[in-house]
Formats: sequence, structure tokens, C-alpha cells
Amino acid sequence: MQYRELGGTGLSVSLLGLGTVAFGRTTGLKYAVAPRRPSMRDLTQLLAVAREAGVNLIDTAPAYGDSEQRLGKLLAGHRNDWVLCTKVGETFEAGASRWDFSPEYTRRSVQESLKRLCTDRLDVVLVHSNGDDLDIIRNRGTLQMLAQLKEEGLICAFGMSHKTIAGGLHTAETCDVVMTTLSAAATAELEVVERARARGCGVLVKKSLDSGRAAQGDDLRRQNLQYVACVAGVSSIVIGTTNPAHLLANAAVLD
Ligand SMILES: NC(=O)c1ccc[n+]([C@@H]2O[C@H](COP(=O)([O-])OP(=O)(O)OC[C@H]3O[C@@H](n4cnc5c(N)ncnc54)[C@H](OP(=O)(O)O)[C@@H]3O)[C@@H](O)[C@H]2O)c1
Repeated sequence: MQYRELGGTGLSVSLLGLGTVAFGRTTGLKYAVAPRRPSMRDLTQLLAVAREAGVNLIDTAPAYGDSEQRLGKLLAGHRNDWVLCTKVGETFEAGASRWDFSPEYTRRSVQESLKRLCTDRLDVVLVHSNGDDLDIIRNRGTLQMLAQLKEEGLICAFGMSHKTIAGGLHTAETCDVVMTTLSAAATAELEVVERARARGCGVLVKKSLDSGRAAQGDDLRRQNLQYVACVAGVSSIVIGTTNPAHLLANAAVLD
């Protein structure tokens, strides 16, 4: 497995990261194939395979159902083997998303994530944007609260999983980490990666397989992953999976 610096955070992350939406949530997703809920035994096996393959980055969120709670149990005794990324701003309850980007809720969300993940520090915390990136950045005080939580030592790095190019560029210019959408067919956010690279901001890529649509043929999947891996500035490609064989196939392409 290849490892890359996550910008200037001091964290070294595997080129393949593990997305954990389907660890805790099976509805309201844009996946090509609807996921089924994995058992804790399935997930124990998946994490063992991921570690063995050299994956060290896990991406989760309060909006991913009980993904954080399950990870807290699964990582007991192994916390230091992993770089943990979670988010603030969105929750998913009773089949619907709810957003709160206020500083008060941001602090509470981080405290609750720490409890659910059974840890005393979060490596990366990203704002889980609802699409109003610039409003969040300019008016909500979310990033300022994350900066404060970093100073307090509860989190090591912060940024935004953005949805607009303007929001991505601002994140790249002012934060430690940006999470951006990139695949061979979705290149609109390349300028965000370039801005991040120029400033030393870490880049996590989401939806490199177009939420499964670009994973349905081996050649298409390979082309996408090889393309994204070669974009200068990309730190890690976070791919959602609950299938150990799929994880190993993705790792093999990136090796
Ligand atoms: N706003 C946000 O912050 C945000 C939004 C979207 C995503 N994300 C993060 O980015 C991660 C990746 O995005 P994503 O999960 O939406 O999409 P993705 O990684 O592009 O695709 C995931 C889908 O591809 C399938 N897949 C993966 N590897 C495969 C393989 N080798 N062969 C066949 N199918 C394969 C998975 O199914 P199997 O389980 O069957 O492998 C799953 O259905 C997420 O998990 C999440 O951590 C963040």
C-alpha cells in the first residue's frame, strides 16, 4: 500500500481509504446497488482485511446511521492503528437528514463522536455540507469552532466535505483538509485539488467510483482509480465498501 502525507497535518494516510456509510445506513443513499446491513462479524472481518492490505484511513460521520457506534466497538484496543475522519453538521434520523452548523451544536457533535468512537481525539473532522458551502463558511461559525476544538486538542485537523467549487476552493485555502468529488468522468473539482496541493492542504477524494456506477465493470473501475491516484495533490481515495473482496480488488489496482 502506498502512503501519502495528508497535506501539512503530519498524518500519513493510505492511498486507499475506507468509507463506512453502509456500516450503519442502508437508506437515503445514492448507491447504484442498495446496500444490505452488515453484521458486526462481517465488519470485524472487513477491518482485518483492510488492515492486512495496509489501509489506515477510515471515514465516518454522525449521518451514517450507527457507523460511529459500531466503529467504536470494532476498533477497541486498535484505535492507534487508524486515522479516523468524521464529520459535523448532518444527522440522519427516521429516514431524513437534519442539518445544524451552529458552533454550539458543532462542539456537542464532536463530543458525541468522541464518545461513540470510544476515543479521546479525532484525527480529522469535516463539515458535512448540505450544499450551502459559502453560507456555512461565511455565516455559521462552524469552521471557527473546529479551529477552537483543534486548539483544545480534541481534533487534529479540520476542513469541509464540500459540494460547490467555491466552497472547495475556500476550504483548500483556509483549512487542513478538503474532501472533494473526483473520478475520470467527474473532473469539475480538479481546480480544488490543485489549489489544495499548492497550499499544502490534504485532499480526500469521495465518489471516485460514482457511488458504485463506475465499479460495475473491472476496466471502468481500474481506469477511474488509476486516474484519481495520478492526480497531483490527492492524499487518499476513500471508497465505500462492506465487501472484503471489493476492498482487496481496489487495493490491488492502487498497488
Ligand atoms: N458529503 C460527504 O461527506 C460524502 C458524500 C459521499 C461520500 N462520502 C465519503 O466518501 C466515501 C465514498 O463515496 P461513496 O461510498 O458514496 O461512493 P464510491 O466509493 O464511489 O462507491 C461505493 C460503492 O461502490 C461499490 N464498490 C466499491 N468497490 C467495488 C468493487 N471493487 N467492485 C464492485 N463494487 C464496488 C460499493 O459496494 P460494496 O459495498 O458492495 O463494495 C458501493 O456501493 C463514502 O463511503 C463516504 O465515506 C462523503
